[in-house]
Amino acid sequence: MNVDVPFKVDNEDPLSILFNKNSSKGANVTVLGAAGGIGQPLSLLLKTNPLVSRLNLYDVVNSVGVAADVSHINHESEVAGFLPENDGLKKSLDGADVVLIPAGVPRKPGMTRDDLFNTNAGIVKTLTTACAEVCPNAKILIISNPVNSTVPIASEVYKKHGVDGSKKIFGVTTLDLVRASRFVYEKLGKIVNVPVIGGHAGTTIIPLFSQVEGLKLSKEELEALTYRVQFGGDEVVKAKAGTGSATLSMAFAGARFADSVIRGSNGEEIVECAFVRTDLYKSEGIDYFSTFVKLGPNGVETILPIPKDITAYEKGLIAEGIKQLQASEKKGVEFASKQ
Ligand code: NAD
Ligand code: LMR
Repeated sequence: MNVDVPFKVDNEDPLSILFNKNSSKGANVTVLGAAGGIGQPLSLLLKTNPLVSRLNLYDVVNSVGVAADVSHINHESEVAGFLPENDGLKKSLDGADVVLIPAGVPRKPGMTRDDLFNTNAGIVKTLTTACAEVCPNAKILIISNPVNSTVPIASEVYKKHGVDGSKKIFGVTTLDLVRASRFVYEKLGKIVNVPVIGGHAGTTIIPLFSQVEGLKLSKEELEALTYRVQFGGDEVVKAKAGTGSATLSMAFAGARFADSVIRGSNGEEIVECAFVRTDLYKSEGIDYFSTFVKLGPNGVETILPIPKDITAYEKGLIAEGIKQLQASEKKGVEFASKQ
């Protein structure tokens, strides 16, 4: 792979993120939407991360109970729960280094992520407005769908507040990488990292199987595996039959990404794929793309180039994905500017 920094985590032990001891500074982490299907297991995993020193859990319901429960786990971090009353949102963000946002409604069978826009756009706008006001230097990790639009919304909110969010606002696409890695395991028999770029919806999700050493796929296998990564979310939505979308695997992915961001803040060299503001495809009319990001104390340290040796098939997927990304970005920017 044509990047000069090792790509994310220890292949041998993917769970090592939960017990990593390499970095020293403890981070203040806030979860907005902490009582939900993702929020609860995510809060549990964050509580077990020794790099987290304070965990603030905010939701419009039930967050105090979730915080009481999680707070009994015998790790050193302090946990507190917040509700909207008494300025709870702002209090939960006070002093935050990292904010994870899984607040919002999930899909039901037959829905696209874009069908969530009408409800989730407003939620993300409200929550990121508070972030821009209270913790403008925190790294903001947006899980709420449609990520391809909610990240541009957050970014516009920051601009309105005179805050440069370009290095701090991340759309969390890690679940796509986690899925791609698992699905390749089913072929290779070992866990390897599979970069996934583009966006986080259907065919905007672009796994780069060409970057996986030793993976040989026929055209049919490549197309089937690509489809499975692009529509892995639908597999879960269908199996959950109206009760929601991926929560547990998302919590795992969110905890991994938060761990990477904290480790980057603490000076470790670490590369993840994430949906960020970038000039990579500006000439094609988009300002956001999920790509290789070297993390650092400021959040995005460097945006690395797309590997030169990707295949013609992958280049075709990028061209196709860009068209859809243009529309979702426009929708997000227009929403943020209207209100
Ligand atoms: P959920 O309904 O189980 O939980 C959402 C939580 O958000 C609820 O507890 C709700 O009370 C809370 N909430 C609603 N409005 C809020 C507000 N204004 N402030 C704070 N909290 C608020 O849903 P879920 O399964 O946890 O999914 C949450 C979101 O994550 C959905 O939009 C889903 O599509 C998205 N998601 C993204 C990915 C990804 O890869 N980025 C993966 C899975 C799910
Ligand atoms: C996923 O990829 O699982 C999430 O984006 C949730 C969904 O709606 O599929």
